[in-house]
Amino acid sequence: MGRKGIWRSFPAALAASFFMFSASISAAQENPLPIPPLLTNQSSDPAVARFELTVQKGETEFFPGKPNITLGYNGNLLGPTLRAKRGQRVEVTVHNSLREYTTVHWHGMLLPGSEDGGPHQVVAPDSDWKARFTVNQPAATLWYHPHGIGNTATQVYYGLAGFFILDDEASDKLNIPKEYGVDDIPLVVQDRRFSSDGVLLYNTTMRDIMYGMQGKTPLINGAVNPYLTVPRSKVRLRLLNGSNAGFYDFNFEGNKKFHQIASDGGLLTRPVEMNHLQLSPGERGEIVMDFSGYGPGTVLHLRNGRLPVLKIIVGKGKKESPPLPEILAVVPPLPYDGTETVRRFTLSGLGRMVGINGQQMNLRRINEQMDLNSTEIWEITSRTGMMGMMGGGGGMLHNFHAHGIQFQILARNGSMPPENERGWKDTLQVREGEVVQLITRFHYPGDFMYHCHVLEHEDNGMMGQFRVE
Ligand code: C2O
Ligand code: CU
Ligand code: CU
Repeated sequence: MGRKGIWRSFPAALAASFFMFSASISAAQENPLPIPPLLTNQSSDPAVARFELTVQKGETEFFPGKPNITLGYNGNLLGPTLRAKRGQRVEVTVHNSLREYTTVHWHGMLLPGSEDGGPHQVVAPDSDWKARFTVNQPAATLWYHPHGIGNTATQVYYGLAGFFILDDEASDKLNIPKEYGVDDIPLVVQDRRFSSDGVLLYNTTMRDIMYGMQGKTPLINGAVNPYLTVPRSKVRLRLLNGSNAGFYDFNFEGNKKFHQIASDGGLLTRPVEMNHLQLSPGERGEIVMDFSGYGPGTVLHLRNGRLPVLKIIVGKGKKESPPLPEILAVVPPLPYDGTETVRRFTLSGLGRMVGINGQQMNLRRINEQMDLNSTEIWEITSRTGMMGMMGGGGGMLHNFHAHGIQFQILARNGSMPPENERGWKDTLQVREGEVVQLITRFHYPGDFMYHCHVLEHEDNGMMGQFRVE
């Protein structure tokens, strides 16, 4: 294997079959949904959560008898769930056993730039990196993934991603589903492309470079065609769009209602009733679906658009299922008085020339400087001028994510954001021509990244750096 990684070594001929799905793989067998194991905390001191992660190469059979080379943390594919409580000191030792460099970024975590795991904290082959920080933010579903300059997209695509769940005292007391793997289910959804032979394919067309890598096969927690048996009660699904470039619209067939209870950075003020939930790459949404009214054996599908992604079977077991609390959390609106610095971030460009504010990522350039503990208002816009081009494919889809902060959306095109976007966020979708206003505070010093979370765009330079001091 060369320095550039495993994906370059696939025979080019396989690329030719990219959109083909033979009966043998589309009618693939169903697989029980894997639940990522909770990583054991190695510390006996309750004030400390100590974890060890090894980044490794492995083998995964997405389709029986069709092994693929994949990447994982402490395993062949994806990673275990890390879990810590507000106030706890977290120490993670990362060992890189790959032959190429990686980083481990804590997406959504408030922490100093030196611990963030962005492109600056390179973990060279055969070496270790230690991250140390104290959790000081509300209960939330965060995640971790690589962030190397130029190799983020491929490393995520081949399997590097995991959940990082945060708890706090208020969320511990809330009467909501919280039994991990039983009625509280983490779901990382990632679309992938397979050859008719069951070989995982990456970047085979010009379109993949323009729009980011998308595939027609959804993987949920790494499984193809998964099913999950749930108790006859309310069930919480922690949805993470962990795809490289796919924008999802989650729903249940028949437009069934559910409640969203949390956004990227924590619980919403109150449950929001909805019948579909859009998540762009990197975004999370926790939803609660009530299965108590269905008879045992009932099958419901969680879908993306009209495509089923997870078959849910209502089981025999009943669990106590009280109504959702009316108030979930306190989300105090960040105050502002018009004296705050306003910054604009415009996403634009095409193909390998995507950038922000007309600039492409340069590790030696700090694009923006912020004062520690200040409040700012940012205006995010997408202007690719791609509407209607590329054969009716519509505009280029982008989103925006920043490290080391959580923000609140003030407005989308001048109006209040929808109710489910009125909590803490770290990633947001921005439509072509739209202006999204957000407000945030900088609690930690250091160098941080902001970027489009379409990973091919990020790798191609749609990213910049801000320094807080
Ligand atoms: Cu999910 Cu810059 O990262
Ligand atoms: Cu991030
Ligand atoms: Cu983008």
